[in-house]
Amino acid sequence: MRPIAPAREYDAPALAALNNRFNAEGLTLPRAESFVEAHLDDYRVIRDDDGHVVGCVCLDEYSPSLVELVSLAVDPAHHRKGLGARLIAAAVDLARKRGYPEIFAVSFSDDLFRRSGFESKDVTSYPEKKKRYDKVSDDEWTVGQKHCFAMPLA
Ligand SMILES: CC(C)(COP(=O)(O)OP(=O)(O)OC[C@H]1O[C@@H](n2cnc3c(N)ncnc32)[C@H](O)[C@@H]1OP(=O)(O)O)[C@@H](O)C(=O)NCCC(=O)NCCS
Repeated sequence: MRPIAPAREYDAPALAALNNRFNAEGLTLPRAESFVEAHLDDYRVIRDDDGHVVGCVCLDEYSPSLVELVSLAVDPAHHRKGLGARLIAAAVDLARKRGYPEIFAVSFSDDLFRRSGFESKDVTSYPEKKKRYDKVSDDEWTVGQKHCFAMPLA
């Protein structure tokens, strides 16, 4: 496995595909290649020894004081090897370097986020999220009411 690295332009199709393979189960929100291309600098990826992307995570900014960890996905062939935890740590590190005072995420992987230093948070603290996700998914806000996690960075 190669070290966690920024994404490259040619990764866009693979990143959208990796994220979207979990969409049917409701684990990730759909992401178009155009979303990936527009957020390329906000992705961090893990590649296997052949250079294929096997894991990714992305930062989605709401304002200079608020960012969400999104599009966390690992190829099932590589689950439970610690890649998810490493990607979360990389996203937190990137968010801290960019000066955000807080990062949050909505995920069913409660234990993984708790072990990564996140704590439960009331999603209603983030009305910006409701506004943005109303356009993408009816369920996201409902899920967030039980599975929202945040970490202060400042
Ligand atoms: C969530 C997801 C990214 C986790 O990826 P992962 O690489 O399997 O994550 P990790 O290996 O770091 O941790 C997963 C579990 O394996 C365990 N684990 C880690 N290393 C391990 C090892 N060497 N051996 C056995 N278990 C291990 C962890 O303790 C963790 O347990 P938990 O589920 O009880 O928290 C992955 O399951 C996935 O892509 N899911 C679908 C998409 C999704 O749900 N994304 C979240 C949206 S925010």
